[in-house]
Amino acid sequence: MSFLGIDLGTSGLRALLVDDNGVPLGSAERPCGVSTPHSGWSEQDPAEWIDALEGAVSELRASHPEFAKLKGIGVAGHMHGATLLDGDDRVIRPCILWNDTRSHAEAAELDAMVDVRAVSGNIVFPGFTSPKLAWVRKHEPENFARVAKVLLPAAYMNFYLTGDHVADMSDSAGTSWLDVGARDWSDMLLEASHMRADQMPRLVEGSAPAGALRRDLAEAWGIEGEVTIAGGAGDNAAAAVGIGAQAEGDGFLSLGTSGVLLAARDGYNPAPETALHTFCHALPGRWYQMGVMLSATDNLNWLARITGVEPARLTSDLGDSLHAPGRVRFLPYLSGERTPHNDAAIRGSFTGLGTDTGRDEMTRAVLEGVAFGLRDSHEALKKAGGHIDRLIAIGGGTRSDYWLRLIATVLDVPVELPSGGEFGAALGAARLGLIAATGADPEAIVKSPEIGRTFEPEQSLVADFDAAYDAFRAAYPAIRDIQ
Ligand code: XUL
Repeated sequence: MSFLGIDLGTSGLRALLVDDNGVPLGSAERPCGVSTPHSGWSEQDPAEWIDALEGAVSELRASHPEFAKLKGIGVAGHMHGATLLDGDDRVIRPCILWNDTRSHAEAAELDAMVDVRAVSGNIVFPGFTSPKLAWVRKHEPENFARVAKVLLPAAYMNFYLTGDHVADMSDSAGTSWLDVGARDWSDMLLEASHMRADQMPRLVEGSAPAGALRRDLAEAWGIEGEVTIAGGAGDNAAAAVGIGAQAEGDGFLSLGTSGVLLAARDGYNPAPETALHTFCHALPGRWYQMGVMLSATDNLNWLARITGVEPARLTSDLGDSLHAPGRVRFLPYLSGERTPHNDAAIRGSFTGLGTDTGRDEMTRAVLEGVAFGLRDSHEALKKAGGHIDRLIAIGGGTRSDYWLRLIATVLDVPVELPSGGEFGAALGAARLGLIAATGADPEAIVKSPEIGRTFEPEQSLVADFDAAYDAFRAAYPAIRDIQ
């Protein structure tokens, strides 16, 4: 038997084939483009997702005979995207993605409505799905009138695979249409953005069967038996499944373009006032909370661009041992910020520069700014009653030991680095496919990867970084007021 995990990311699709123990057999990747027709807009053509999937499947079929014994598939997708289908299931317009900010005014309007936060458990952020539909209603009424179904990117892949409109709870939680505590669509939230329940897909848990692979696709892919498609997941929930974060105290830190601090929760503990995201997990009866920074490695990449020095060189020039915080501060808000500020308009800033400031001081300030931003999410999580015993770190930023040591110290939590192999959203998606197809106990499948290295907080510097964090916190209101 084999199982396929599909991770539809913003810049490309990755398909991972695993065996019946969830051990990786092979993977294939295809790029996907993002178009930006206007500043702040971010769109993708769903036809490209299908081409990417078909390309990755052909590659895996050619290299792995086990593909013919496929029994289950799980899809993870970038969250919040609005794929609009008409009554004949044709795509009406390009999908509006999670990082598209055109609907910030509609988001603020919806967010201010009575009970919207209380029922959805979240702020209506500009990237979420419901304000996108409010924008389409206002600016493209002819498209809005044709909407028969709204599918998230992963649900659109489910539709391609099964022929049915079906979505999982974890991804649907990011629409602002789901009652996240009750794990069901909310008529009140739908009505708030002039939507109807019949325009929503059927809901299933991420690890439950959503349907079977279409017969014609199974034949085209040379598969012998029936293939179960799992509900799937939003990419962060899938990454949590891949990293083994399912119970209270488990968490991960993703240092990618954006930064995510995620903690699994046994219960539903919404705290929208903290700007934490509170979503259903991809496993039944579980939730998770996360803080999202819109720019993490993006800040370092920006500094690399303007200094003409590679990011790896910028960080390696700092040496191995952690420096005490300096006078230079950086606010890491190059693309606005979600947690804790919910401020799409704020931008980054340096303060404390002197004629003696060099490149290394600026690099340290950038790394510290991101670490303080993650601490904001950690503090929000503590306010919501959550805790994290240890954080497994994933993403491109984990190549810098200095950064991981710094984050461990600023958060006062050990940061662990997997020793290698697979542990991301594609593995999480494959695990969901395996659980849905075989009925395996999630506890037995959702395990943590082997840890290669642990970065302990540098206790001698914790108090200094606490004080620097307080100064960082005080800088935001001042900068916001002058920007
Ligand atoms: C989560 C979010 C992003 C996307 C992109 O709320 O917007 O993490 O899922 O991957």
